[in-house]
Formats: sequence, C-alpha cells, structure tokens
Amino acid sequence: MSKDNPRAIHLKDYRVPPFLIDRTELHFELGEKATLVKSRLSMRRNPDSDEGDAALQLHGDTSLVLRRLQLDGKDLSVSDYQRDDESLTIAQLPDNFVLECVTLIKPQENTSLEGLYKSNGMFCTQCEAEGFRKITFYLDRPDVMSVFTTTIVANRQDYPVLLSNGNPVEQGEQEDGRHWCRWDDPFKKPAYLFALVAGKLEQVDDSFTTQSGREVALRLFVEPQNLDKCDHALASLKRSMAWDEQVYGREYDLDIFMIVAVDHFNMGAMENKGLNIFNSSCVLANPATTTDAGFQRIEGIVGHEYFHNWSGNRVTCRDWFQLSLKEGFTVFRDAEFSADMGSRTVKRIEDVSLLRTAQFAEDAGPMAHPVRPASYIEISNFYTLTVYEKGAEVVRMIHTLLGAEQFRKGSDLYFERHDGQAVTTDDFIQAMEDASGIDLGQFRRWYSQAGTPVVEVSDDYDAEQRRYRLKVRQHCPATPESDSKQPFHIPLAVGLLDEQGNDLDLGDGQTTKILHLTEAEQEFVFEGIDSQPLPSLLRGFSAPVKLRYPYSAEQLVFLMAHDSDGFNRWDAGQRLAVDLMQGLISDYQQGRELVLDRSLVEAYTKVLSDRSLDPAMVAKLLLLPSEAYLAELAEVIDPEAIHLVREFVKRELAQALQGLLMDAYRHNRSEGDYQLNADAIARRSLQNAALSYLMTLEQPRILVLAQHQFASADNMTDQLAALSLIAHSGFESERQQALSEFYQQWQQDPLVVNQWLSVQATSPRDDSLTQVKALMAQPLFDLTNPNRVRALIGAFCGQNAVQFHRADGEGYRFLADQVIALDKLNPQIASRLLTPLTRWKRYDSRRQALMRAQLERIMAGELSKDSYEIVSKSLA
Ligand code: PHE
Ligand code: ZN
Repeated sequence: MSKDNPRAIHLKDYRVPPFLIDRTELHFELGEKATLVKSRLSMRRNPDSDEGDAALQLHGDTSLVLRRLQLDGKDLSVSDYQRDDESLTIAQLPDNFVLECVTLIKPQENTSLEGLYKSNGMFCTQCEAEGFRKITFYLDRPDVMSVFTTTIVANRQDYPVLLSNGNPVEQGEQEDGRHWCRWDDPFKKPAYLFALVAGKLEQVDDSFTTQSGREVALRLFVEPQNLDKCDHALASLKRSMAWDEQVYGREYDLDIFMIVAVDHFNMGAMENKGLNIFNSSCVLANPATTTDAGFQRIEGIVGHEYFHNWSGNRVTCRDWFQLSLKEGFTVFRDAEFSADMGSRTVKRIEDVSLLRTAQFAEDAGPMAHPVRPASYIEISNFYTLTVYEKGAEVVRMIHTLLGAEQFRKGSDLYFERHDGQAVTTDDFIQAMEDASGIDLGQFRRWYSQAGTPVVEVSDDYDAEQRRYRLKVRQHCPATPESDSKQPFHIPLAVGLLDEQGNDLDLGDGQTTKILHLTEAEQEFVFEGIDSQPLPSLLRGFSAPVKLRYPYSAEQLVFLMAHDSDGFNRWDAGQRLAVDLMQGLISDYQQGRELVLDRSLVEAYTKVLSDRSLDPAMVAKLLLLPSEAYLAELAEVIDPEAIHLVREFVKRELAQALQGLLMDAYRHNRSEGDYQLNADAIARRSLQNAALSYLMTLEQPRILVLAQHQFASADNMTDQLAALSLIAHSGFESERQQALSEFYQQWQQDPLVVNQWLSVQATSPRDDSLTQVKALMAQPLFDLTNPNRVRALIGAFCGQNAVQFHRADGEGYRFLADQVIALDKLNPQIASRLLTPLTRWKRYDSRRQALMRAQLERIMAGELSKDSYEIVSKSLA
C-alpha cells in the first residue's frame, strides 16, 4: 500500500447523525455511455444530535461527477462546498432544506459490482453495505432512513423492464424511444436497501394470500433462457411467506414482491425492500442442471432474503457493527425454516460442519473478531462466518435459554418496539430479556468477545451414594482484540445413557437437561443414579464451543448406536473417525505403516446394516470428517498427510465393506424415476456416498457403474457425483472423456459450466494447478464474473488443500497473482479470495515462509482498502 494507510472505524466513536433525510426522490436516465442521476433530498437537522450547527457531510465516491448542486432551489458554487475522496461537505445550513444534486456515473465501467453496474446488458444495483455512495451523494449510513420515490428513464427497446423498490405508481412513453416508470416505496429505509433494475427480462408470476387475506403479487424476473428454472424459487418463496406467518406471526407488507436473477454478483443475494436481487446461482434451478444440495440451498436463501423483510428491513441496523443483528437472526430463521421443510437433524449436521471447520478456523486466525466487531477498516470484509453463522448460533442459544414460547414473545416485542427503527444487538437482547424475564447479562459476552471457547468435561460416579458428577471447565484462547476472556454463559445440553443405551430420567421425565456454565470451573451433581451412566454432551450442538471429554472408542461406538439425540449420534462417529485419523496422521509423519483400527469398520458395518435408519442419516454417518475439519483440529497442519490418511481410511473401509456398500448403492439407486422429495434426496445421497467409497478401490467394474450412472442420469445430482468421481480417479482416458462429454452437453449453461470448472479445480491430482491455469486461458473464463472466479480459483485455493499447499509454493504464487489482478477490478472478490493465505501461521515453517512471502508481495503493490485490511492484519 503506497498511499496513506486507510484508517479503522470504531464502534465507540458512534454518533447519531446530525442530519436526517425525510424524503428521497431519485431520477435516473440510463444511458449507454453514462447515467445521469438526479436526487432531491428533503432534509432537516436531527433534534437528537448534540452536534449543534455541524456541517453536512454527504458520502460520495471519487468516481461521481458532480454536475449541479442546489440548496432550496439555488445553485451552489464550488466555493460553497468541499469535496474529498469520500465525501462532500456543506457548512452553514438551515434547520430544514431541500438539497438537489445531479451526478453522472458510468455503470458500464463499474467492475466492482457495487453501486449501479451492468450484468449481461442489464442495469442493476448492489448497495449494501456502502454502495449507494457510488450512485449519488447521500447520508449512506443505515441509521438514516427515508422514504424513496424513484423514476427510471431508459430506452424501451433494450430495457423494457424498469424496476425499483415499492409499488409502481406511474409510467409513460417519450418520443425518443425512451420510456419511464416511477416507483414509490412507502416504508422508510436506509440507502443500502435501495435497488434498481432495468433490462430485457422475462417474468414468471405467482401470488400469495397473506393470513389477513391480502393478495400479494409475486414476480420472478430472469433472462429469457432461464424461464425453465423459476418454479423452485417461487415455490420456496411461498413456503417462506407461510412459514414466517406461522412461526413468527410476520406478514408481508407491500402489494408486490419481486426477485431478479443476475449473473454478476459478489454475494449470494440481497434483500432490497420489495425487490430482492439474487446471484443467478442462488435462485435458478431445475433437476437437469441443479443438484439436490443446490435445490436446498436455493430454498434456504430465498427464505433468508424474504425473512429479512422483517429482520433487517422493517427493523434495521443502527450501524454496521450491528450487522449480526440482522444476519445472525436471519440465518437462525432460515435454518429453522429449512429444518422444518426437510430433515432437522441433517440440516443441523450440515450447519455445524460448516461452523466447526470454517468459522472455528476464522476464530483462530488473524481476522478473528467478535459477533459484534469493535472496529473495521472495510465493512465488506465483515460479512463473515462469525457475523452470520456464529451470530446465528448465538441467537439459537437465546432460543434454547428461553424456550420456543418465550423466544416468540421476545421476537414479537422486538418487532413491535423497533418497527421502523435502526437498532443494536443490545436492543434485540433487551427485548428478549424484557419479554421473558430471563437475565442475559453475562450472555451478552457472546457479542463482544471473539474466539471459540473450549469446554473440558470430566466425570465421576459414586455407586454408594448413587451420585454422578460432571466437572466442567471453560477457557477461551486469545484473539487479536483481547488476550484475556471472561467466562461465557454456555448452555450445555446433556443426557445420560444407561447400559442399555436408554436415556435416564433427569427429573420430571426430562431426558435432556440444560446445564448453565457461567464460571471458569463448575460442578454439576445428578442424584439417584443407579449405575455408571455414559454422558451425551452438547446435544444438538447447544453452543458453539469445542467440547472435550475422554471418550473411548467403545463408548463412541455405543453412542453412535444408541444416543437418542440424532446430532450426537452423528458426532460420535465423527469423534471416533477423528481420533483414529489423528493417530494415523502421526503414524504417517513418523514413517510408520498405516493400519486401520477395527472399531470404525465395526461401527460402519452396523450403520450400513441397519435398515431402520433414514438413508440421509446413513449417508451423513458414512461421511468421514473433511480435510478442512482435520486441518482445523491440527496443531500444525500437514495437508499432504491429512489427504493421504483420509484416502487411506476411505479405501480400507471400502475394502472391508464392499458388499454392504454395493448393496447400499443398488438398493438406493433409482433409474429414470426422478423425484425431488426428502426420501428421494436421501436415497441419492446414500447411493452417491456408497459409490464414492467404492471408487477408491480402482476396480474397472466400479468404474463402469460410475460411467453408467454418468451417462444415464436424469438429474444433476447423479450426473455430477459420477463425473467428479471419474474425473478425480486414475483412469486417465475415461476421465478426460467424461469431462469433455459433460462440457459438450452443458456448455450453453453457465451455471453448469461453473460446476464443471469446480470439479477440475478440486481434483487432488498433481496436474490440477496446470489444468486450472489452462482453463483460465480459455475464452469461457472471465475475471470480471465472480461466479467464474469462485468456481475455478476459489475452489482450487479453498477446497483443494493438498494441491494448493504444494510443497513448491506454486499454489501460493498463483493465488497472489490472481489477487493482485482482481484487486483492480473487484476488491471485494479479491479480498475474499485471500482467506487461505491468511492462515499461514497454522502450517510448517517452510510453508509459512512461502505463504508469507506472497502476502508481502501483495502488500508491496497499490491495494484496495478491502485487501489492505486482510493482508495487513495477516502479517501483523
Ligand atoms: N445482505 C445480504 C444477505 O445476507 C448479503 C449481501 C451483503 C449481499 C452485501 C450483497 C452485499 O442476505
Ligand atoms: Zn442476510
């Protein structure tokens, strides 16, 4: 970074805004060379501000060309205001005034995908967090809420559809081939929820009748070639609307709800009021092109954005430190929605897996921050797993502490008390406390302290006294913001199993009890216990902590078979496999021969033979801990050892369980009768898990099975699973053939091409970096399309540890090259891509030096704030 280093912004410096904007009238003239933006802001001094006659400081990006500025109808000249890189300042203003402003912007040249930009010929916006300041001068902060009226003028031929927030109120034609449309949004909102779309779009219509009997028009806008991929999103939307009424009593508030799909998008989707804009990969689906996981993801994201209408839009954030107020709560809401739509246990397993690998790693790295960060340099860097996923876990713990009923009272109070306001995470907790009468004082530390607490449990049983005791200790490792942590309030859900595997009654017929950990060390006593029980700890993953208890392999196998808590049954299997694999990793490192302990084979035999189990659960139970999870748990990460050991265990299991795996494959495979329901999805997941084991045997007859599945599949789940197994195998000509056939079949569909790129990027074969570079050189690759970048570069660097961490450091050099190039085009994507390099301290000294050298090389150039923050914090 050569210029002055960017400054950090601190929560403690928050001041209420000195000015407010009551009305915002916007007028856009969209053009092929440039777009003219006229704004008319009705403003006044904020009576709650203590800054007296402060000057007005509007946010505005350097790229804005200011054409005209008027105060109460009179032109201001350059001497009446001051402009710098980020703002425009006007002094000596009256208490009430109207400010009019004309700016010129160039959406065609905007590759950052923030503000107004173009994607495949259509105009669209992305304003969260601070994109509005790239459109016009404004108070671009979430505690300034205004009603908006937006007029869009554009050429009718190329932009027949003109959309913005709220309701369409007027439209008309001009003589020059242009037409216009005016939208009015009656709900006050911050600028980050503003949206505009203009393009040649087709629409699919539907409708929803709310619980109070209002009819809401639902509209999904897509490019014409995607019309056959709309049904699932619309069905998901209707389920979301009904669910939010049933579970939270929340009804939709406008007469129209629109979703637009765009190909160029930095994130998954955006909850703009009444006009959600989605990354096409998170909304478009049909069975031929979309996997089961894809369908489920879309349902979850459609729900997420819809739920934001209350948790985010009607009640929004006071400042960006409060981001988890809307995101943590909304992720919790969408997770519960998905759990209710499908399998609760499977959804929980998936969410916890993500948290324990990616969020725990973030918490242990240089970017660790509390759910409510205390400072940031670039807010875009804080759309993190901590704010989203850990934030959702924190809300889940409140739900656990209060119980469903009190939690609902709390959320009702929160929405009622703060409707139309911009508030803080503390306001949220206060509402929960006030409604339930439960003290969350100590619990608030979850918002202010970073790091993953470690909970160590030991126990003893006194047969004579019939007394069982749990001793629990908690501590939390140091993180950048603080070395010493105060104890957290941790709800630890516990069950006790007797020798038959039945739950003991822990009082009043309760079989799971919540223990409240509030001190560094505590003891919990259970009386009247007739024989030594086996504890089932942290049921349902009741808190985002690392739990330690010295389970024996035998005890874990027992829990896998008997625990009444589905999550813990799965987790016992994970613990068993982790223990064995950690032993094997060190065997490998010491040059000892690898031998797989029988306990895992026995456990898996039971799982595979038990026909009473849900196939989705069986598939989850069979899935070995991921390389990323093993890495997170390691003292010093050895990517090669982790990869080889995991492959070894998989192959050994496949050898020992061939017959059962083949049965599972045959039994669950359905040919030609595609269905998308929980049962069919479960069967496909087990079928493909079994095939993945069998393929490790490298037998031609199994290759034939995979090839047959690849060729005959009537759905993407089966086709892609087969493709990736063949493509990652050692069958050279077959893998090339499958890859090229797949490309031939799907080259017209960009979303499928992305999956094809990812399959190649995640290949553990030694030539994968070379392949990735070759694919980047092809015309289909495009550095300005984030989905392409994520599918190829992101997948290689983030999901192919063994190749990214090649001993020669070429993976690191490659990533640094890409970050340097991308940072000029799209800083948000560049800085996100950096994540794997930031974890350099977790590796051996050779790799550390290689990774550090690349970070320093990046640091030496001119950098965006986004990348500067990540790199400088990583090197600190
Ligand atoms: N607010 C969006 C969501 O989580 C995410 C997002 C953030 C999208 C920033 C774009 C830009 O639903
Ligand atoms: Zn969100």
